[in-house]
Amino acid sequence: MRSSAMRDIMAITARSEVISLAGGLPDTSAFPREAFDEVMGDTSRESLAAALQYGPTEGTDAMRQAIARLMAEEGMAVEAEDVTVTTGGQQAIDLITKALVDPGDVLICDAPTYPGAIPTFCTYEADVIQIECDSEGMKTDLLERTLTELEAGGRRPKFIYSVPTFQNPGGVTLSLERRRHLVELARKHEILVVEDNPYGMLRYEGEPLPSLYSLDGGGFVIYIGTFSKILSAGLRLGWMVSPTPIREKVVLGKQASDLCTSTLTQEFAVRFLESGRLPGYVEDLVSIYRSRRDAMLGAMAEYFPHGSSWNRPEGGLFVWARLPEYINTEDLLAKALLKGVAFVPGTGAFVDGRGADSMRLNFSGVSEEKIIEGIRRIGTVAREQLDLYETMTSTAEIALPPSGQPGDRTGRKEES
Ligand SMILES: Cc1ncc(COP(=O)(O)O)c(C=O)c1O
Repeated sequence: MRSSAMRDIMAITARSEVISLAGGLPDTSAFPREAFDEVMGDTSRESLAAALQYGPTEGTDAMRQAIARLMAEEGMAVEAEDVTVTTGGQQAIDLITKALVDPGDVLICDAPTYPGAIPTFCTYEADVIQIECDSEGMKTDLLERTLTELEAGGRRPKFIYSVPTFQNPGGVTLSLERRRHLVELARKHEILVVEDNPYGMLRYEGEPLPSLYSLDGGGFVIYIGTFSKILSAGLRLGWMVSPTPIREKVVLGKQASDLCTSTLTQEFAVRFLESGRLPGYVEDLVSIYRSRRDAMLGAMAEYFPHGSSWNRPEGGLFVWARLPEYINTEDLLAKALLKGVAFVPGTGAFVDGRGADSMRLNFSGVSEEKIIEGIRRIGTVAREQLDLYETMTSTAEIALPPSGQPGDRTGRKEES
């Protein structure tokens, strides 16, 4: 078993004096209190006994139907019976891996990948192969080559895990052409794809792309959704949509894990969705997060040292930055914490130690003022490292980092 980089840092960042750009925390203070009071009040008056009772392992009928309707609004045709309600998207990743992976089985994922998936993959002793991403997401030509090589060696991955839209941690979105290619490869090689999509509704600019699930029609793509980033992370409510044989195994695994997801939580979510408030709330979040993203990008342009680069995400909650390669972001984090600011070092998003010059920065969890101050502090410690390096090497010649990481680099600060 292995610990998650994010959650280790969360313990430190819970201290109020630390500005945390580390977590992926939604801004729950934006949630309208009167909506909460009303929905909870209705639950108490109309269905208290049921809300406090155990429920079916696969989720309540009302919740599964509400999720199918929500996905239909997002352009995905889903039968309620194919939906399994889970205790967050995280549990869906865990249950799928538990159901499908035996020790030593190959799994494929993005490089970098969601840091919270790595401990799961390691727990089930998967052999994880990460496929490099650029500004258009996973390089599917590399994926194709890898699949062919694996096949030649008699190995078939159990699934390909990807966050194709506003990826955590890279912020990048898989292009339409690559989405089509990925689905085509899944069909050709008969390999499942797990599409994890917590951020698709948090778009700040640009046009939505079809999900892998809708391109495939649900034959090879398992879809994971969550209410964490669009409603509340504290509800611990997510879901997955999968072909029946997989759903049956996953439900067995879920019985063993937690019997069922909180019925109270499901009751709350169903009533909130039925009240028609979700689109308005998501719109509010989009406007708050867009401003915070812009504040972060502006501050990075001002305070990050020359030789740094980063991307401009069209949605989601994260900016991925690369510093000059001689700056190790794990060391930098230790120094940044002394200055009261935290981020996730890039190594947390790789299984093999890559990412030492990178960091994930979250812009949803704190105010614009704190984002700017946090970036200023990170910029200060990074510049100190840079000055030290320049003094030690007695050269002003700064190597730019090699290419091949996510980021379109449009946000790169001009060399000064
Ligand atoms: C890509 C991705 N998947 C899954 C999760 C887990 O979310 P939850 O369990 O809160 O639904 C997260 C949380 O940040 C995430 O970014």
